[in-house]
Amino acid sequence: MVTDIIDLQTSDFLHSIHYPPTLQFKKKYMKNNGRLLPIDHTSDKEFWHGFIDFYNQNLPENILGTIIEFGVLKGNSIRWIEKKYSNAEIIGIDILPTQDSWPQSDKISYYKLDQGDEADVIRFFETITNPELIIEDGSHIPSHQCRILRHGLNNLKPGGVYILEDIHTSHPAHSIYIKEYKSLKNIVKNIIRHKSLSRIIGERRRPIVTSLTLLFTFEQALKNGQDCLSEEQINLLSSGYEFSKNDVIHLFSMIDQIKLYRRAGFPSSCYSCGSKIYEYHKLQCVCGAKIYDQADSMSALIKKKESPIMDN
Ligand SMILES: C[S@@+](CC[C@H](N)C(=O)[O-])C[C@H]1O[C@@H](n2cnc3c(N)ncnc32)[C@H](O)[C@@H]1O
Ligand SMILES: [Zn+2]
Repeated sequence: MVTDIIDLQTSDFLHSIHYPPTLQFKKKYMKNNGRLLPIDHTSDKEFWHGFIDFYNQNLPENILGTIIEFGVLKGNSIRWIEKKYSNAEIIGIDILPTQDSWPQSDKISYYKLDQGDEADVIRFFETITNPELIIEDGSHIPSHQCRILRHGLNNLKPGGVYILEDIHTSHPAHSIYIKEYKSLKNIVKNIIRHKSLSRIIGERRRPIVTSLTLLFTFEQALKNGQDCLSEEQINLLSSGYEFSKNDVIHLFSMIDQIKLYRRAGFPSSCYSCGSKIYEYHKLQCVCGAKIYDQADSMSALIKKKESPIMDN
């Protein structure tokens, strides 16, 4: 059980809220690097992003095989998976070593890897056979989201489901996207990543194509009844740093359906402090966290085709 956080849902907390928040209130609760402490032991999938209803509507009733989740943190989503799919084998993956607070059972195992390390990711997928569900809720770094999507969808069981959670971090308005693609250090890193040293000079910066760009384009193509992508779509999607032409064609050929989710209203409580009271007119919480950002709380759910894959 996690014990290092305060349960701010107590009536003591709710009655202590002044509106607008007083300095005294802020001083009392802002102890976590200037932010209020987290709410309780549930995953932010529920109270912040509002993903759970969307998942419940679109996930299979029962899973007997393997479920993988990238990103364990405090183990709350592993608890949610264990409750929902009590017969499944669950593998939690994180860059952290196994923590005492993470749930333990003979159905749950943990694997330590860095999503930023291509070889690490390939090695992991070689050790497992065709999971039925993959949830990617790890680093949220756009290039990592692309990497796990490429390998994960390929390894997923036909008919299985892949969830790319928090895909909004690949939206150009998100700070993680800006850090990865707009900082000088990363611009240089990305160019070097794709060119031999002798060819770097003269290399132009490529367009930025992320998993968000890719999946939103795929979803549009499917909505328009396309069986395969047009030459133009393939060229555009493979013009960035993350996906080759083969990746684009192969990924699209494996996908049966894509459902996109975006939280439409305010979160039920704040991810940062647990408050249910917001400074509504500012679209922010009493602790200062933004509760309705331009790039926030988006998830993509992908159903893989049942039939064998035929690339076009
Ligand atoms: C958003 S949290 C996971 C939340 C959890 N799924 C839940 O719903 O309660 C992200 C997790 O990703 C892990 N992480 C961060 N960078 C990573 C990386 N490069 N590779 C693997 N895991 C990483 C962090 O240690 C953290 O536990
Ligand atoms: Zn807050």
